[in-house]
Amino acid sequence: MCGVVGVAGNDNATEILVHGLEKLQYRGYDSAGVFIDSEKGPDFLVKTTGSIADLRKKIGPEVQGTSGIGHTRWATHGGVTIENAHPQFSDDERFFLVHNGVIENFQQLKNDYLQGVKFHSQTDTEVVVQLIDKFSKEGMSTKDAFNKTISLLKNSSYAFILMDKKEPNTLYVAKNKSPLLIGLGDDCNVVCSDSIAMLDVTHTFMEIQDGDVVIVKPDSVVVIDADNNVVEREQFEVDVDPSDSEKGVYPYYMLKEIDEQPNVMRKLSKKYLDENGTPVIDEKLLDVMKNSDRIYIVGAGTSYHAGLVGKKQLETLTGIPTEVHVASEFAYEKPIFSKKPFFLFLSQSGETADSRQVLVNVNKDHYPSLTITNVANSTLSRESDFTLLLDAGPEISVASTKAYTAQIALEAILAKALGEHLGDQRAQDFDLKAQLSLVAQGMQTIVDEKDKIDEISQDYFVNATQAFYIGRGIDYTVSLEAALKLKEISYVHSEGFASGELKHGTIALIEDGTPVIGIITQGFTAGLTRSNLMETAARGAKTLTIVRKSLAQDDDTFVIPDVDELLTPLLSVIPAQLLAYYTSLNKGLNVDLPRNLAKSVTVE
Ligand code: AGP
Repeated sequence: MCGVVGVAGNDNATEILVHGLEKLQYRGYDSAGVFIDSEKGPDFLVKTTGSIADLRKKIGPEVQGTSGIGHTRWATHGGVTIENAHPQFSDDERFFLVHNGVIENFQQLKNDYLQGVKFHSQTDTEVVVQLIDKFSKEGMSTKDAFNKTISLLKNSSYAFILMDKKEPNTLYVAKNKSPLLIGLGDDCNVVCSDSIAMLDVTHTFMEIQDGDVVIVKPDSVVVIDADNNVVEREQFEVDVDPSDSEKGVYPYYMLKEIDEQPNVMRKLSKKYLDENGTPVIDEKLLDVMKNSDRIYIVGAGTSYHAGLVGKKQLETLTGIPTEVHVASEFAYEKPIFSKKPFFLFLSQSGETADSRQVLVNVNKDHYPSLTITNVANSTLSRESDFTLLLDAGPEISVASTKAYTAQIALEAILAKALGEHLGDQRAQDFDLKAQLSLVAQGMQTIVDEKDKIDEISQDYFVNATQAFYIGRGIDYTVSLEAALKLKEISYVHSEGFASGELKHGTIALIEDGTPVIGIITQGFTAGLTRSNLMETAARGAKTLTIVRKSLAQDDDTFVIPDVDELLTPLLSVIPAQLLAYYTSLNKGLNVDLPRNLAKSVTVE
């Protein structure tokens, strides 16, 4: 939910930190700050509400040093104020701390240990740094005071980077249930919530585990595990080209990522289907899935919506009953009614706390699991038995687009692979390679209709107070995703609705001019959805349609090319993605950084 960065031992520390925060803005962007230090010179604390651009304006040329920490915040405890922005610091301004996560027992700790301490923020994070200061004043070394404080945190998630002004060029690092990586540079070491923040410094990273405490200096990284042993942690190379995470000629990342979707389809096809169109999927994974009697797909937001499509694909091509659950609901309800369940986690970031909590429970029960994600070495990827990567390139915009279509395409590949493994004829006959090629071409034709979509956005959505997407079956699942896109970046209240269900109450909301978009790609329900649309038009709605070519009529709004019914969401979602984009743009909003949101929700 927030982004943290640290650097030890680089004369360009200020720029490294601020550039890193710019790359992490997708994680939260209501306030930001840096603490910069050096061996001899003065230290600097600069904080602001607002974006990293606002922070940059406050950092003068004199703010230089060789080490430091930085933070971009999505508020959890305490409002959006400069006092609540990180870094948080101790009373005597000796210790400075940045934190991503939630300290569940911060109030108890405050009452038990910090009576009489003058707090200057409402954050849970300040309790941690004041505790470290207290233990330090009682004679503990910084390392021991850090360890002691961490030992008192209960049920808490944290990614900490601590600095002690008495130990310049030294970062104390710790994590629990929040992503944090150590970057190993040639002449310095760095710390970050996501490797994307430090690709200009290094492509070599070390994944630290929950419970680790790490001491990072310019030329050394010492990892101490939860049992107080010095350990080695696995290093890995990140092969993302830094330019992948640049906007280039695009005004917003979202438009770039929508345009990238045809190529993402081609990359997935190349990676997971051989020249004959046979899936290239780990046999061990297929054997485990083959022996399961029920598949549970778990995700949040857009990933949950991609799971709804995956259910249809898996049940059609494998015959294995499949359920789809919202992660935050499943984590504590655990409605598992099967002896041999298999869990499929969908997560673009691989860090969503709601989904990760389910995986913690699944691992405790020793059920087998697969994570489909866009981020290699992410928490969910590392902690599940199997992982399949979307390889869609960094998805920076808060509104997920290419990850949604990539998840659906990869679920189709997995369903075909599993179906063939089970000897299912439908799966054998499903020419997925040809279909994904048609999908890529179809996506391209739709993204080339931007001007028309921009116009419709201005005519129907910019001044709308509400909007409905309706559909049946797989089209209903797309209506949920379409509505989420529109509401999360344009703030137009939107609902995805089962078209047949509208007349059972919700149609009362339809007023003169309410935009209602019907998604019609399945032959057997096309007529029904069209009549449901007419019912809304009879009550004043402005109706639009997204229709598959073979079902199209003259007055349809968007006609999408014909592809297999299991893949139509890959095309029917594109007009909705673009309608959301242009509505947000035409309303003068920040398309990539919508209010109240963050790209990766790492708190429950
Ligand atoms: C998507 O547009 C949203 N920003 C959000 O719902 C997102 O899909 C959700 O938070 C899940 O994220 P994940 O895929 O990284 O787990």
